[in-house]
Amino acid sequence: MAQSRLEQSFDLFKDAYAKRAENLSVSEVRALFATVSRPEVVSLAGGMPDVSALDNELIRKAFDSLMANRSQFALQYGPGQGDAKLRSQILEIMALEGIEGSVDNLMITTGSQHALELIADLFLDRADVALVESPSYVGAVGIFRHKEAQIEHVYTDSDGISPDAVAETADRLVAHGKKVKLLYLVTNFANPSGVTLSEDRRDRLIEVCKSRGILIVEDNPYGLLYFDEAPPKALRSRDADSVVYLGSFSKILSPGLRVGYVLAPPAIREKLILANESAILSPATFAQMMVSEYLSICDWQQQISEYRSLYRTKRDAAIWALGEYLPSIETTKPRGGFFLWVSLPSGIDGKKLLPIAVEELVAYTPGTAFYGDGRGKEFIRICYSHPTAENVKVGIQRLAKAIERFQA
Ligand SMILES: Cc1ncc(COP(=O)(O)O)c(C=O)c1O
Repeated sequence: MAQSRLEQSFDLFKDAYAKRAENLSVSEVRALFATVSRPEVVSLAGGMPDVSALDNELIRKAFDSLMANRSQFALQYGPGQGDAKLRSQILEIMALEGIEGSVDNLMITTGSQHALELIADLFLDRADVALVESPSYVGAVGIFRHKEAQIEHVYTDSDGISPDAVAETADRLVAHGKKVKLLYLVTNFANPSGVTLSEDRRDRLIEVCKSRGILIVEDNPYGLLYFDEAPPKALRSRDADSVVYLGSFSKILSPGLRVGYVLAPPAIREKLILANESAILSPATFAQMMVSEYLSICDWQQQISEYRSLYRTKRDAAIWALGEYLPSIETTKPRGGFFLWVSLPSGIDGKKLLPIAVEELVAYTPGTAFYGDGRGKEFIRICYSHPTAENVKVGIQRLAKAIERFQA
């Protein structure tokens, strides 16, 4: 059969790709986007913040003030390390997590995803080991896979990743000649599990990694979105030399601005800045200055506390609906953030259930997205952050219907 022009154009470069491009495939989360954007579908899939909670008037004021006072800078290239004023404002945000940083070690990135890409690029050669939680953030799994790293999921329970299991896994792999380069984890209200690393495990985890020369990559986009009490102090506040800390404005302000940051140990700061400059010359000046202006003119801590109570209401709606419509199901009960990790009734595969769920007009993310090794079939991630609380309940009721149909 004759090939279409589109097929021919794919063929044209198929032998030209770098080997590692084979590891780039559509993530299960991205693949869902077309489906979940249909208005009739309740999406419990993508981890999107509810930006309708933002005060648009304030954003407009920040924009007007930026254009009136600093437009010549905002519309120009900027420093590769990021805007100096924004960096000093970020120190105030990180202080809320107990971190005393310095602007010298802080660099702005295009979202924290970009910071992780730079770190992975700096540290991971092919077949090097990246230790991750079990399950782990889909975006990190994707990056490590693209670097052709070996992704090792380490035992994780309701207190977070186990330091003893990290030690055991690292030692076993090193004994087999592997280079264990880094440990990546989401310390608070993790994506996808909702779990927080307990106070008891924090110092021990640092000790285990430090003594083995393993760089800790602490990703903390959700830490300020707690519902009852603040999580334990950041790993970075306990050890500035072996922890790289990633932060983001995506969940506490807006992901559309694409502004994240990385607080690096002094030893790797220079390389990170060079890598940033090499990749993008400078982070988007306009977006950085919008964030900076917003932080200057608005009570951002008040905005964060509004987000907190909004997401607490939605979490409660999700837990209520699971109890009401799927009473025998097991779920984590996060104390902050966006996610529930749900264990399906035995025999149900989250990926196979999805088409039926979509027919019932609800979407979620199958658990396999959060593993680099095909595990996770019996789990799904439910994200309650974006729909209204009422729709979270409707979505879970529809999920129950889909499970009933699957079992019939
Ligand atoms: C744990 C985690 N890290 C990083 C990111 C990416 O965030 P950003 O928008 O800052 O790139 C996300 C987004 O969902 C996330 O959940």
